[in-house]
Amino acid sequence: MLDFDYNVPTRIHFGRHAMEKFESELQTVHGTVLLIYGGGSIKRTGLYEKIVRILDDKNIAYKELKDIQPNPRISSVRKGIALCQDYDVSFLLAVGGGSVIDCAKAIAAGYYYEGDVWDLFMGKEQAIKKALPIGTILTITATGSEMNGNAVITNEQTQDKLAIHTDLLRPRFSIIDPTLTYTVSKHQTAAGIVDIFSHILEQYFSHTTGTMVQDRLAEALLTCCIHYGPIALEYPKDYEARSNLMWTSSLALNGLLGCGKQTDWATHGIEHAVSAVYDITHAVGLAILTPVWMEYVLSDETMTQMATYAKNVWGVGSHDPNVAAREGIKKTKQYFIELGMPTRLSEVGVAYDSLKMIAKKTTLFGGLGHFKKLSEKDVLQILEQAY
Ligand code: NZQ
Ligand code: ZN
Repeated sequence: MLDFDYNVPTRIHFGRHAMEKFESELQTVHGTVLLIYGGGSIKRTGLYEKIVRILDDKNIAYKELKDIQPNPRISSVRKGIALCQDYDVSFLLAVGGGSVIDCAKAIAAGYYYEGDVWDLFMGKEQAIKKALPIGTILTITATGSEMNGNAVITNEQTQDKLAIHTDLLRPRFSIIDPTLTYTVSKHQTAAGIVDIFSHILEQYFSHTTGTMVQDRLAEALLTCCIHYGPIALEYPKDYEARSNLMWTSSLALNGLLGCGKQTDWATHGIEHAVSAVYDITHAVGLAILTPVWMEYVLSDETMTQMATYAKNVWGVGSHDPNVAAREGIKKTKQYFIELGMPTRLSEVGVAYDSLKMIAKKTTLFGGLGHFKKLSEKDVLQILEQAY
């Protein structure tokens, strides 16, 4: 195991009554709040009204930044920073999913940065020295953004989708009430499950040895996805399924599984380049690319771990590691299909002619991945095999 520092300062209020803790969290909020939300789901569910009533009762001044789209745009971030400057905002309240929370984080970082906020995504993230505090009310299970320091933003002009990561962006608190996810559509629920699954795999497959704790934890979380995913799709109001998936998503990407080991993230890198150009749902891209990546990186060097995955997660019995590894990949692909995900980039509107450009974008900062280091040529081959 490698050395690591682990610090998750986010207070989690989890459960059916988590919203009651929101009021006590507001006691430490002084000054104007920027309330950030998406395209209207929080209005349809009544959550918006509840939040606004609480803010009014507490005499907390607030401004709003709404209509944050899935795959949030840098233009929304710039708008948010301007609002914070104009109204002297001191706290960001993100209500929604990964897109809303990531937009809030980018605003939080950009607010104190003297140049244009996109610079931070273009390799200058170490310039983030300070950030506005953030609180979140999570309404969809997927990214883990509610407990991590990542923000992923799309620059719609350059068609790049890039990330920043710093502990300064971890939310101060997150309200996680699984009943808030009862209204999430079947498709978005499935997409969330695939995203969680992929986050775990990106950290699970690694050449770092001696990480039994992280590896067995990862397998347990994958098992939760496999068990509860189909239940949540069939019974959207099943509290046990929704709560287990929701907590799995936070634990899958809060640093717990990836600390002390080298992690991969190549599939995410490729997917972000695809959704930067085609604006597809993040996890739809992951569902297509993950099994293809697994097949592509399968080699004598990676086979044992892939076979362990097949055995421990899918119960594959073969003693031949090559056969077992291939069976594990097949089961992964089948699971995504059963969740209703497509299997080919051609099915989601990606043009074959654009694959070269996407491979180039993916490797903007050089090769990616650690389980197998991928060059632009490798990425192109994966994209072609996924087409
Ligand atoms: O916009 P509204 O109307 O709120 O609708 C949203 C949106 O259309 C809807 N939704 C959310 N909660 C709902 C609901 N609909 C009904 N009932 C509810 N309770 O769901 C749709 C998707 O929302 P979004 O926030 O985009 O989903 P998700 O949480 O999957 O976030 C995806 C974004 O996060 C990035 C992705 O790339 C993508 O941009 N990621 C962020 C990561 C991070 N910060 O750590 C890591 C991930 O790998 C990922 O890259
Ligand atoms: Zn993801």
